[in-house]
Amino acid sequence: VEAWQEIDREHVWHALSGRRDERQPAPLLVDQAEGVWVFDDEGRRYLDAMAGLWCVNAGYGREEIARAAYDELRARAYAPLSRAHPRSVQLAAELDGLLGGGWSMVFSNSGSEANEAAFKIARQYHTQRGESSRWKIISRYRAYHGQTLGALGATGQAQRKFRYEPLTPGFLHVMPPDPYRYAGEEDLDAYGRRCARDLEDKIVFELAETVAAVIMEPIITGGGMLIPPDSYLPAVADICRRHGVLLIIDEVICGFGRTGHWFGFEYAGIRPDMIAMAKGLTSGYFPLSATAVREEIFAAFPARGNERFRHINTFGGHPAGCAVALANLNILRNENLVERAARVGERLVRDLERLHDSPLVGDVRGRGLLAGIELVSDKTTRRPAADAQVVAAIAACARRGVLIGRNADTIAGLDNVLTLAPPLILDEEQAGMIVDVLEESLAEVAQAEPAGITLAPDASN
Ligand SMILES: Cc1ncc(COP(=O)(O)O)c(C=O)c1O
Repeated sequence: VEAWQEIDREHVWHALSGRRDERQPAPLLVDQAEGVWVFDDEGRRYLDAMAGLWCVNAGYGREEIARAAYDELRARAYAPLSRAHPRSVQLAAELDGLLGGGWSMVFSNSGSEANEAAFKIARQYHTQRGESSRWKIISRYRAYHGQTLGALGATGQAQRKFRYEPLTPGFLHVMPPDPYRYAGEEDLDAYGRRCARDLEDKIVFELAETVAAVIMEPIITGGGMLIPPDSYLPAVADICRRHGVLLIIDEVICGFGRTGHWFGFEYAGIRPDMIAMAKGLTSGYFPLSATAVREEIFAAFPARGNERFRHINTFGGHPAGCAVALANLNILRNENLVERAARVGERLVRDLERLHDSPLVGDVRGRGLLAGIELVSDKTTRRPAADAQVVAAIAACARRGVLIGRNADTIAGLDNVLTLAPPLILDEEQAGMIVDVLEESLAEVAQAEPAGITLAPDASN
């Protein structure tokens, strides 16, 4: 029999990758997973400090979630949302409740599609309100919003777009706050307001009547863990309101407890117009996403006639997906996993501060169970670490039994941030293990010759 590595190499095209040659190592085979742990085909155990791709918030191996999918598939294997089914009704009501009321949901299958739906709604909404000149969408450099051509257009990562351009027209970008690299001596909140003013300048210089929406994550995650100053998001929300521009918040990673709140925008006290969610909505147990839309916007799309939303996909709002999401939300709620993410996350980020002792660590930042460690080759100039060192750090952690991530293929020279987004069930001892392993691994990498290191990169988006 052919080893799985051979078949995989021949027939599976992996994420952010291409055809491997014989000398390149196969990716980690996830054979089993339970709690925060994944096990490979040789029975080796790893703490998954990335929760897969930032998504397994409830942890692996949840009987209640698997059972919910099974029961739903037996009861009604499939129902399109041109009809109704009980679980989508229940889930929409629950999400509306979590968001404080006044929301309706468009269900899709992925974060990319949740954002695509938001873009289409934004453009059509303005048209139906007599402002058909509003079609541009402003997002931020460094942010990732998805892999489909529209969402990739919104993405502010040149490396992810390289060789796929030209993309959908009408997507513009501004710089996000990056306090470590750009705030300098400036007061943080003043810096946050200055970044928001850059966005306002963009809107004004483009002519506000041409701008449909702004999209942003509360914290830029896969783009390098950039946490804005507290002044930033409220200022952005105010600017959007004043200029008649819709504010779409991408909660694909930040949502469902990741930041220690149900949603990442909550800490800023703002009310977005649309909210994209995916990943943690089902803790990755089933592909499902949702675009939450404020009721005033929904009201501009009457069901009859040309003003309805002409948008459909076969699997969005799949009964099993909605049942899985409901079971997942029960777990997050009953086990207080959002509060836990805040508490254990605070401890994790505090302990990560120890890594500053490493010559490679320029900055450590985090909120809830979401953290980034920015690697540099020179702490004074903040010159980013060489790619080989970032790759080596990830491999060294994996050898010690902890899977971490990084910002891969984003901005040339700035793919130097290690990322952590463990399941929200992480306990303090496991948080301690992550920090210990990082400490040892960074010490190993700091001593090694960077040029000699060629290990398989890990990819996280
Ligand atoms: C912030 C953000 N938005 C959107 C997406 C796209 O989601 P998906 O991969 O489910 O299409 C991602 C994926 O990582 C993401 O991190």
